[in-house]
Amino acid sequence: MKFYVSALVLLLAAALVIGHDVPCSVDETIKSILSQHYAKLELECVFVKNATAYSNCPEGYTATGCSCGSACGSWDIQSSNVCHCQCANMDWTAARCCRMKLP
Ligand SMILES: *[C@@H]1O[C@H](CO)[C@@H](O)[C@H](O)[C@H]1NC(C)=O
Repeated sequence: MKFYVSALVLLLAAALVIGHDVPCSVDETIKSILSQHYAKLELECVFVKNATAYSNCPEGYTATGCSCGSACGSWDIQSSNVCHCQCANMDWTAARCCRMKLP
C-alpha cells in the first residue's frame, strides 16, 4: 500500500513537470504556425437586430452569438446563421454575424 501511494505521488509529480513543459511549447509552436499562415486572415462582423424572436444573418455570414430582448438569456443558433431567442413574446432578437475576409 505504501509503495502504491508513493508511486502515485511520483507519477503525479512527473505529470505536473511534464504537463507544464510540453503543452506550453506545443502551444507556442501551433501559435507561430497559425500566425504565419493566418496573419492576414480577418473576421468581418456585422450586427443584425430584428423585432421578432428570429434574426437572420446576411448571406455568407455565420452567427457567432445572439442577444435577446426582455432580459431573455436563452437562445440558440439555427442552421449556423439564424439567431433564435427562446422566451415567449420576444420583442427583439439580435445576431452577431461574422465571415472570414480573405486577403
Ligand atoms: C425578421 O423576422 C422576420 C420574421 O421572422 C423575417 O422574415 C425577416 O427575415 C427577419 N429579418 C432579419 C434581418 O433577420
